[in-house]
This record gives sequence, structure tokens and C-alpha cells, in this order.
Amino acid sequence: MNAIVIKGGKRLEGSVDISGAKNAALPILASTLLTSGTSVLTNVPRLEDVSTMIRLLEYMGAECRWHDSLIVDSTRLKNSEAPYELVKTMRASILVLGPLVARYGYARVSLPGGCAIGARPINLHLKALETLGARIELEHGYVTAHCDRLRGGEISFDTVTVTGTENILMAACLADGVTTIDNAAEEPEVVALAETLSRMGGRISGAGTRRIVVEGVPRLSPVASRIMPDRIEAGTMMVAAAITGGDVRIRGARQEHLGAVVTKLEEVGVKIEPEGDVLRVIGPERIGSADLRTHPFPGFPTDMQAQFMALMTISEGDSRISETVFENRFMHVNELQRMGADISIQSNTAHIRGVPHLSGAPVMATDLRASASLILAGLAARGETRVTRIYHLDRGYEQLERKLTDLGASVRRVSEE
Ligand code: UD1
Repeated sequence: MNAIVIKGGKRLEGSVDISGAKNAALPILASTLLTSGTSVLTNVPRLEDVSTMIRLLEYMGAECRWHDSLIVDSTRLKNSEAPYELVKTMRASILVLGPLVARYGYARVSLPGGCAIGARPINLHLKALETLGARIELEHGYVTAHCDRLRGGEISFDTVTVTGTENILMAACLADGVTTIDNAAEEPEVVALAETLSRMGGRISGAGTRRIVVEGVPRLSPVASRIMPDRIEAGTMMVAAAITGGDVRIRGARQEHLGAVVTKLEEVGVKIEPEGDVLRVIGPERIGSADLRTHPFPGFPTDMQAQFMALMTISEGDSRISETVFENRFMHVNELQRMGADISIQSNTAHIRGVPHLSGAPVMATDLRASASLILAGLAARGETRVTRIYHLDRGYEQLERKLTDLGASVRRVSEE
């Protein structure tokens, strides 16, 4: 198993390019199942989760190959099943359910397993598919969905769900008639998917608002699509600049996707200057404190909560961070405490009392964003931090250690016994 070893205390300086967004690439890859032919996707990040989605598509008979772009030929699909072995490694595998049942009238997808950040059920995906006329059965750890052809319907999600919205959006494109999706997720990745589906021939309005309307069409065609930049990677790099008192130009970050993150960083004293498609981030000598709550977009993203908490550990003053999207998403807290952070948790709120400095320690990553938070803490800490179980990191960050090293950090990957 690999670990990442960080020698803290280096000020980050220079420029960094942001990769394509994992959470946009995954649904767009799944959407190729709605078409027959060759789609060309550019700016796809080379990540473990993307490889898992590619393996799923290949299992179904798609041919995928990397050029500079990722080329997906979905002409000869033979299988509408997603097996446990693949689904268990990535919850987002559930994104194939909507497209498969819409196109073939049948899908059998393993239930995603338990997950480190809460129960994360898929009940809302299933209820919405039933509204479109799918018959759903749960048996032997699999969801089976049947229908002759999906028909449009009125869906109102009880909770905002990103992949739930995406699954139904894809399914509704091939349904007979009009579907309305209320309380839809407004995340930029949903908008990116809707844009791709529209270019495939889908008729969609309202993506990016709480109400999406989809007029079903008989078929969709393959497309060329460019994956948007990863706003969570951009946010992580912004915190890396801030936490080291650095001066970093982040290329390709879209400020309109990062509103809540920029606002909070500015509140704690970080200077953020847009320069064309570059965001220049300048960390202060001492970070101020702030309170925040995570929310669906355009609120502060839960996927940036752990990273922001790392920053608050060395702030001047007390901060409170409330996690409202997922239960049990504070697993980084124990590890940050091992590095000297002063944090206590009451229900879904972490109280953080800033300390003058963290000290390097061996720590263990528990999920994707928690691993990023530990690396950020390591960049600021005195001495050496060793982050183990970094396979979580490889699921969602492309070449993070190279990018940080290029900015002057001392970060290296070592292989462990
Ligand atoms: C997506 C993102 C993930 C991000 C999350 C919230 C992808 C691939 N993943 O995950 O990085 O952290 O959005 O921004 O895009 N829920 C239910 N029933 C359901 C579905 C969801 O109760 O059927 C609940 C969840 O347990 C959670 C909340 O709804 O409490 C939001 O989850 P959701 O938006 O669905 O997260 P994902 O789409 O899995």
C-alpha cells in the first residue's frame, strides 16, 4: 500500500492547472449508454473512479480507449447489468441505472455497499424511476428495474440529491412524454450533464434551477463533450495556498462554481484576485476564523468541508463547521487531532479552536476528501506527516502530489510494506 509523506512548512508559490471534474465525468460517461455510436470526451481526469466507470461500461459491451481524449463506442452493448465487484468500489456506479432502464427497459445493478460517510441510500433514485413507470425489485443485493418504455412523470425529490437528479435526468430523456423534476440539484455538474444530453438531442430546460423539465425523445446521438474543470480540486488548491501563506495562480478554475468557497476564504483573510481564467490566491500571515454550514449548491459544498476544517485548525480564534448534507462526515477530525488540532464535535457541528501550529504525525485517510484535508494539514504542520490509505485520494485527485511539488511543497509517495 502507498502512503504520502509531507514535510510541512513550505510556502506554495506558482501556477497550477485544474483537471477535469470527476463528478462531471462520471455521469457524462454513464450518459453514453443512452446512445449508439462513438462519443469523444475530452479533459477526462485519469482517476480510479473514472477507471471504475470505464470498466462498468466495458462490462456492458462498450469499447473505451484513451487517445488524448476518451473515446467511448456504445454501438454493441450486450449487457444491462452492473456487478457487485465494480459497484462496491464506487457508489456513483448507480448512475448507470437510469440510462440502462431507459434504453433497454431492463437493468440489474448491485446495491452500493455501506459507505464511510453515512448510510447514503438510493431510495430517492428508485422512487423517481418508479414514477417514470419502472418496476423495481430488490433481491440478492441487486436492484432490478423493468419497463416497456419509461413515461414522463412529475418528480419531486424529498432531499436534494445530485446523482439522483442526474439519474432521472438521463432516464427522462428517453421517456415517452414530459418529466418535471422538482427540488432538483443545482450543482454545476448537473448543468454540464444537461448540456451534454442536449447536444445528444435531449430536450431539457431549467438545469441549474430547482425545476428541470425534460421532453422525452425517441433516441439520442453520440457527442463530443469537454469535461468542466473540477471545482473541488480548485477549492482544495485554494486552501493549499491559504494554509501555507502562499501565492498560487489557479488556472482553469471557474469562479462562478466556487462562490461560497471564495466568500469563506475571503472572510478568513485570504486574498483572491481573478485574472482572466486564473484565480490568484494569496494566503494571509495568520488565518482568521469563520463559521460555516454545508449545503447543496450554491451553498458551501460538503466536498470542501474537510479541507476547510484543516484550514480552521490553525486559525486565530474559534470556528464552527456544521455538516448538513451527510451524517458521519467528520472522520478526519480524529486524525487532525493527532496532529494537534483542537476540535470537539457536538452532533453535526465541529467546534474548532485554532492552535498556533500543527505538528506532523502518522495519520490515516478515511475517505476521499478526508485524505485531502490531511495532506493540507501536513503542508502546514511542523515536521513530517505520513498519510496512509491514500487509495482514497487516487479515486478523486489527479496527480495531486506532482501538482503540490511543482508549487514547492515537499510531498512524496512511498510504498509501504
Ligand atoms: C454527490 C457527489 C458527492 C457529493 C454529494 C453531495 C457525485 C459522483 N458525487 O454524491 O461527491 O459529496 O453529491 O454534494 O457527484 N440521499 C437519500 N436517498 C437517496 C439519495 C441521497 O437519502 O436516494 C441523501 C444522502 O444520504 C445525503 C443527501 O441525500 O444525505 C445528498 O446526497 P446526494 O446528493 O445524493 O449525494 P451523491 O449524489 O451520492
